[in-house]
Amino acid sequence: MPATDHLVIFDTTLRDGEQSPGATMTKAEKLRIAKVLEKLRVDVIEAGFAIASQGDFEAVKGIAESIKGSTVCSLARALDKDIDRAAEAIRPAERGRIHTFIATSPIHMKHKLQMQPDEVVEQAVRSVRRARSHVDDVEFSCEDAGRSELDFLCRIIEAAIDAGATTINIPDTVGYAIPEQFGETIRQLLNRIPNADKAVFSVHCHNDLGLAVANSLAAVSSGARQVECTINGLGERAGNASLEELVMAVRTRQDLYTIDTRIDTKHIVPASRLVSTITGFPVQPNKAIVGANAFAHESGIHQDGVLKHRETYEIMRAEDVGWHTNSLVLGKHSGRNAFRSRLLELGIQFETETELNEAFTRFKALADLKHEIFDEDLQAIASHTRQEEDGRYGLVTMQVCSETGVVPRALLTLLMDGKEHKVEAEGSGPVDATFKAIESLVDSGCNLQLYSVNNITSGTDAQGEVTVRLERGGRIVNGVGADTDIIIASAKAYIEALNLISRGGVRQHPQGADV
Ligand code: KIV
Ligand code: ZN
Repeated sequence: MPATDHLVIFDTTLRDGEQSPGATMTKAEKLRIAKVLEKLRVDVIEAGFAIASQGDFEAVKGIAESIKGSTVCSLARALDKDIDRAAEAIRPAERGRIHTFIATSPIHMKHKLQMQPDEVVEQAVRSVRRARSHVDDVEFSCEDAGRSELDFLCRIIEAAIDAGATTINIPDTVGYAIPEQFGETIRQLLNRIPNADKAVFSVHCHNDLGLAVANSLAAVSSGARQVECTINGLGERAGNASLEELVMAVRTRQDLYTIDTRIDTKHIVPASRLVSTITGFPVQPNKAIVGANAFAHESGIHQDGVLKHRETYEIMRAEDVGWHTNSLVLGKHSGRNAFRSRLLELGIQFETETELNEAFTRFKALADLKHEIFDEDLQAIASHTRQEEDGRYGLVTMQVCSETGVVPRALLTLLMDGKEHKVEAEGSGPVDATFKAIESLVDSGCNLQLYSVNNITSGTDAQGEVTVRLERGGRIVNGVGADTDIIIASAKAYIEALNLISRGGVRQHPQGADV
């Protein structure tokens, strides 16, 4: 394998992460996340699957145009049309990569591809060659490698490297692997494939058995030199290996690993917050590294120990991963210029002056309520300003009655297709009444799959961030709303989810069967 002086971090939050149900992101949101990934010093950003839709194509292209510090990559099935589209999307990048893949397990080849193994090898070789005709940096993945036969993997990988693949990725697509066995597979591949020294070996682990990070680390111990991961472990089903856990495991246990990443870890917590705000996937409090409790010591014995000598109970420093860096950025008296420049520092740029004005008005209203405004508040203001601009539905006013012994009631004025409507309903609680009032007008036919509330910063004056997940006809969307009043935040989140559902749009799933 070519010598790499560091463990390559390939972040796929914007591609595999976006495949989580409801985690669809707009181009502007993807750009904001890409900027934070660049600050983190991620080596490769998988920006999307260019052929999936015009929106995906534009997002990959936009990221390729604006990211300088990381390689920008697009996924492509082993098909000419996918590869050509990926090449077009990444063309503006200073460093671009095409990532092409085909399934290699007996079950996928027989039932999904309906192809013979020889045909699969042939198609892999053709695709890698085509990708190499566009760029020098080509990654080839054996989808469902975790359930593929070792001999067949050796054969197809050798052929792919001969055809010009510079990175070989071994995905555990269905999260089936166990660390010892997966580590051994990587060792065998590196030992048995004669031209293994011509490519960087990578792993891409899913978390169905909760082992994605453990499997990736086992692979690193066996010689893998790229790991594919996502912020907060976002991804299909149970998710992908989490970037923050992998990076901190390798950094903290340098006594065991002969290699480290280039990640600037102090951007980990801000990146985690941003991804959570944008996707509406909350981070569980006990999540390693980025959960609210990850560095909190409840037990008196632990607190005493940490006060006497931090390392008695702490293996990492909270500030090294970006905790407590919440700077008080702006307040009630901050002006428009200070507001605009802080947004720019956060990588947030509005397309129109009207959007900026709208965001500034929200900022002023929030500063009146809460006095101290943090970066997280600004991120939420930016997300929600953009969302509300172009929706079919909007919230004009609302009034909710919540009193002991009285049935809760909500009265709302809603905007639908530019016209105001007054609606009201009773419910088992104020949120239930609010959603029923909205539905009395919209009659969306959606199923509510998830309702969750989180605070954006700490304190009782913090903004609450509500996620509402709606499903209709198999399509799932997440609406997110923020406000210091959580009932208003709930209404905003519900309305945003309805706007996303009403916008429709079909995206191709990369792992669909049409190879
Ligand atoms: O899980 C998987 O196999 C993938 C591939 C497309 C790399 O995401
Ligand atoms: Zn995957």
